Amino acid sequence: MADNESSGLLSASHPHYTSLTSADPHAAPSSNAGRRRTLINGIIVGVIVISSVCLVYAMWCVGFLRGASAATAPYNNGTHDFQPTVIFISLDGVVNHDLDLHLTPHLSHIADTGVRAHWMTPSFPPITFPNHWSLVTGLYPESHGIVGNYFYDSELDDHFNYKDPSHSWDEKWWGGEPIWITAVRQDKKSGVIMWPGCSTTFNDLQPTLSVPFSDAMTFDEKTDIALEWLDLPMEARPQFIGLYVPQIDQAGHKYGPYANQTLTQLQHADTSIGRLIEGLHDRNLTSIVHLIVVSDHGMSATDASRLVYIDDELTSDELGLISQVEMYPTLGIRPKVPDGATEDEVVEQLYQAFRRLWKRHGEEAAPFQVYKKPDFPARYHFNNNVRIAPLLVLPDPGWNLVRRSDFDPGRGDTVYHPKGVHGYDNLSKQSRAIFVARGPTWPEGEVLKPFWNVELYQVLARLLDIKPAHNNGTLHGRLPLE
Ligand SMILES: *[C@@H]1O[C@H](CO)[C@@H](O)[C@H](O)[C@H]1NC(C)=O
Ligand SMILES: *[C@@H]1O[C@H](CO)[C@@H](O)[C@H](O)[C@H]1NC(C)=O
Ligand SMILES: *[C@@H]1O[C@H](CO)[C@@H](O)[C@H](O)[C@H]1NC(C)=O
Ligand SMILES: *[C@@H]1O[C@H](CO)[C@@H](O)[C@H](O)[C@H]1NC(C)=O
Ligand SMILES: *[C@@H]1O[C@H](CO)[C@@H](O)[C@H](O)[C@H]1NC(C)=O
Ligand SMILES: [Zn+2]
Repeated sequence: MADNESSGLLSASHPHYTSLTSADPHAAPSSNAGRRRTLINGIIVGVIVISSVCLVYAMWCVGFLRGASAATAPYNNGTHDFQPTVIFISLDGVVNHDLDLHLTPHLSHIADTGVRAHWMTPSFPPITFPNHWSLVTGLYPESHGIVGNYFYDSELDDHFNYKDPSHSWDEKWWGGEPIWITAVRQDKKSGVIMWPGCSTTFNDLQPTLSVPFSDAMTFDEKTDIALEWLDLPMEARPQFIGLYVPQIDQAGHKYGPYANQTLTQLQHADTSIGRLIEGLHDRNLTSIVHLIVVSDHGMSATDASRLVYIDDELTSDELGLISQVEMYPTLGIRPKVPDGATEDEVVEQLYQAFRRLWKRHGEEAAPFQVYKKPDFPARYHFNNNVRIAPLLVLPDPGWNLVRRSDFDPGRGDTVYHPKGVHGYDNLSKQSRAIFVARGPTWPEGEVLKPFWNVELYQVLARLLDIKPAHNNGTLHGRLPLE
């Protein structure tokens, strides 16, 4: 039942990944677009000549011209023109508090010369696939449909499992429009390095450039690829570059969020970010390229002292009514419906069983809550999808619901694994994600108010000057200062 996210899709190299084409014909620059641009430039020149007869009008028009030529190439690093460009990095599983440990000088440098959020709130559930998809689509998981790393869709009568890439890359699972497709649809190039979901095709569109998942590739190698992409001629150069880094999360699950091994991975990542900053500096791109670093969620330490044993209260008959548990550490429970019963009846029976467990643990004092799906608190935005299981048992941060058959100190088990878990209430401090950003349009050394990660899609769209698809952002891409 435990899903430490450190295997499967995030670690296995699957042939389906390597079959991904790096250049997609649908996203290739169209020569028509080029001709259209030349025509528009010609029209603009004509406009200037005519308008020079009237000083006021001409001044307005020159302003207009500046705006128009800015749209063609707003930046130049001394030798090359650059379109608005964003490097968007996700460090999986980095707790917001990690930025204050004085272990990450380069992340601090980004914050000091740009902005840092007081924190960023992940969407519920704060786990990897739902949140990576919220970060790039601006939708809550109930709206984009990636409601977990595993789930069942009763309408499709099919299971999503992130450990089965050949099946989970099917477009039918992935709702919303990721920013790299929004860009490509609007004639801009995008490149994606291992971001969850990057191998999926949307209406025949894929990112212009992409690198398939490989656990063996280091962050340094990924930064080298990002820099190589910046060195491409402007017609081929991606404006959005997404880059995914799993190592800190993997160590956090295995050793705990504040174990030496995990903090060492954090420092390694920071060193790679320093290398990227250096690479941008060498290209005179420091004040041209937006560099944004986020995490998808934080992580809580787990321990043998914070376990609730389900089978201490549920009878074996009741346990037999559980068909599958789809989420972790929240249990998303699907019932096994015997002949002659309805799903609602079985859900009710299981609900009452978990309520007994809740009473046994002191009711309000119990380290978990039990909800039927329609009663799950509205602030989570986690009801409105058939992919969400009908019964949800939500443990407090750091707690796990287990069976004695999984882990039993009475039988001699001592160390509970995983040692770090995320996916609890997104209000909790340990769930909070990081956000730092710098670049041409960010203020210097400011702190942003906390915001929800669904806001970032509109931020990216605004920086790239593209029209966002439907999303749940509310701030129009402008994150308020604290
Ligand atoms: C670096 O880029 C800036 C514009 O961002 C430009 O003004 C400056 O001349 C460039 N420096 C060199 C050495 O090309
Ligand atoms: C938790 O995440 C949901 C989106 O899934 C969001 O709407 C809600 O505001 C978040 N909770 C808090 C307290 O930020
Ligand atoms: C963690 O690292 C520090 C500094 O390198 C060292 O002093 C300490 O013993 C290490 N702790 C563990 C548990 O390895
Ligand atoms: C400008 O960027 C291009 C592409 O990365 C690079 O080849 C060139 O050396 C840069 N120019 C300067 C002055 O650094
Ligand atoms: C989020 O956006 C989607 C798509 O526009 C919409 O259907 C849904 O109702 C929105 N959710 C909320 C809570 O506003
Ligand atoms: Zn994650």
